[in-house]
Amino acid sequence: MLQDKDRIFTNIYGLKDRTLAGARARGHWDGTADIIKKGRDWIVDEMKASGLRGRGGAGFPTGLKWSFMPKESDGRPSYLVVNADESEPGTCKDREILRNDPHTLIEGCLLASFAMGAHESYIYIRGEFIREREALQAAIDEAYDAGLLGKNAAGSGWDFDLFVHHGAGAYICGEETALLESLEGKKGMPRMKPPFPAGAGLYGCPTTVNNVESIAVVPTVLRRGGEWFAGFGRPNNTGTKLFAISGHVNKPCVVEESMSIPFEELIDKHCGGIRGGWKNLKAVIPGGSSVPLLPADIAREAIMDFDWLREQRSGLGTAAVIVMDQSTDVVKAIWRLSKFYKHESCGQCTPCREGTGWMMRVMDRLVKGEAEIEEIDMLMDVTKQVEGHTICALGDAAAWPIQGLIRHFRGEIEYRIKNKPGIAAE
Ligand code: NAI
Ligand code: SF4
Repeated sequence: MLQDKDRIFTNIYGLKDRTLAGARARGHWDGTADIIKKGRDWIVDEMKASGLRGRGGAGFPTGLKWSFMPKESDGRPSYLVVNADESEPGTCKDREILRNDPHTLIEGCLLASFAMGAHESYIYIRGEFIREREALQAAIDEAYDAGLLGKNAAGSGWDFDLFVHHGAGAYICGEETALLESLEGKKGMPRMKPPFPAGAGLYGCPTTVNNVESIAVVPTVLRRGGEWFAGFGRPNNTGTKLFAISGHVNKPCVVEESMSIPFEELIDKHCGGIRGGWKNLKAVIPGGSSVPLLPADIAREAIMDFDWLREQRSGLGTAAVIVMDQSTDVVKAIWRLSKFYKHESCGQCTPCREGTGWMMRVMDRLVKGEAEIEEIDMLMDVTKQVEGHTICALGDAAAWPIQGLIRHFRGEIEYRIKNKPGIAAE
């Protein structure tokens, strides 16, 4: 279990002073200018050494992503855009940083922007996050007043401005290129990749889009060293990580732990165990609604990191752990997710626009017990036709939970069809 001294987020529960003075007393903004004086290459190399993989869900190596940004300006400005459009069902970790520990994010924006040659950065915050936006803006205002942002930010010699942009509540705007479209004032629809944002991002300029947690850990990684961060977890799965645990545990919570912590340890130590005891566990979605659920026997063996969960055909995703006990109707739970993805599809590409509707309608029939047995294979077939054939990852995200359901709970679907329990979809 992670020791308190190794926790990066020192005020994740908001129990301490959230102001700049409080943040400084906890070690934030300590020696920021000295880090900047070590230079861009040193920072990028240190981030590579840390092994940090993006905390927004995809797990792309952060240092590598930063190295895609141009070293010399070709006349276009460079931008860092922070994705605070946290909307993945079950995911509520970035929210805690925004409202309780915003200074580590703001300092991280300065350091990351310097490393990528950006003088301006935008934090795109989810539309529903009103209080979080207010807390973040108050912290940014404090930082400007203290000379930590603006001209010669933190006495580093680097001019740096930071802006908050409030989204309007569309899930798809969390996809990085839809987010950039939205930031430019257009309808939030994903762009084709490549080009990746480092080549042509915001206003066609070199841009890196990073998740809130990815940026918020940067100051501590640079102060303590990439090697220190890489000392937690397993090779290729390093660092500390915020887990957001919800559902049928005794004490749901957001907690910072070592990457690769065993699932049972995570739940026993921080959540007081499964409601009704371990024998009552039925299924777990280990990384937010976009990754397939796992049955109890696999979940109980789980090592909570990117590679272990990927080997089980699931994923760490956003590390939003959704726990379901024996009282859960898993068919209905996945039906509800299929409804969500149908609703949130931007409709731009046919496999997703039509496929999410198809999948939702078949799931609807399964839930009501109106489907035929043959429709289970047909549904699996539809998910395969959507997966990998869409502009953005929403198509995959809609297909994978259904694939997980059929893979692990086929018997439950068949029972429902044979016995037609007449459970109403609502
Ligand atoms: P992705 O794998 O396409 O990209 C991940 C990042 O790596 C992006 O910034 C991308 O630009 C960069 N990248 C990937 N390949 C690259 C290359 N060859 N060259 C340069 N850069 C490259 O994944 P995506 O679509 O950005 O994210 C999908 C994930 O988002 C899902 O796994 C899901 O877990 C997560 N998600 C998170 C949400 C949240 O609320 N935090 C909401 C919805 C989904
Ligand atoms: Fe839009 Fe879905 Fe295509 Fe993504 S996959 S661009 S959400 S229609």
